[in-house]
Amino acid sequence: MIVKILENYMELSKIAASMVAGEIKRNDKLVLGLATGSTPEGMYAELIRKFKAGEVDFTDVTTFNLDEYASLAPDHPQSYHFFMNKHLFDHINIKPENINIPDGCSSDLDHECYEYDLRIEEAGGIGLQILGIGTNGHIGFNEPAEMLCVHTHLVDLSDETIKVNSRFFESFDQVPRKAVTMGMGTIMHAEKIVLLASGKSKAAAIRQTVSGGLTTAFPASLLQLHKNVTVLLDREAASLI
Ligand code: F6R
Repeated sequence: MIVKILENYMELSKIAASMVAGEIKRNDKLVLGLATGSTPEGMYAELIRKFKAGEVDFTDVTTFNLDEYASLAPDHPQSYHFFMNKHLFDHINIKPENINIPDGCSSDLDHECYEYDLRIEEAGGIGLQILGIGTNGHIGFNEPAEMLCVHTHLVDLSDETIKVNSRFFESFDQVPRKAVTMGMGTIMHAEKIVLLASGKSKAAAIRQTVSGGLTTAFPASLLQLHKNVTVLLDREAASLI
């Protein structure tokens, strides 16, 4: 695990975007795994800037998002489909057919999950996976549990995640209780992983991720087993390591 401590969120976002752009330069057919949430917003803004400056070209890039709320339609303002269009896809030259986000509204979610992993496999696997981290150690929506799932699956969101994510909804009751997420195996099979964390609220989770014991009760700790993980932190997120 390589840990890089950056001065602030802006630096972190710039370095993360440079890593993505560098990877696309090395391989213009990159299969890129993406995250939503507050943390990668700055990275996406920087990628848009780089695209507009002619520094990165998404023509042949394929993306797979980590997760989507169950039951939120793609045009729901809090859906991850909506987030990705707003923060990245609407502003770059990625081909719509190369964008993959789980369909949380599928009438057959088991099949959707199975199909999603199949699509990742057919694309050749994920080359670079971007991750955020929950304060409870979740990555994607792999929540702390006695057992974790390997493949993409439907998950019950933890009370902590529902509470934390309620900041995006008008009321607590509106937060979906379930989501479709890539499994731990899907994530761990990515060739490279870049985990982003910013702010004091993530400091304890980061300490456990980089130096805690491995446990399914803290899914991000399993990243210590991966051979190519870079953790990008701002000073606050790094304050307990
Ligand atoms: C989102 C995702 C989640 C978030 C995590 C942190 O696609 O997979 O694991 O990365 O909840 O969210 P923020 O960045 O909002 O703190």
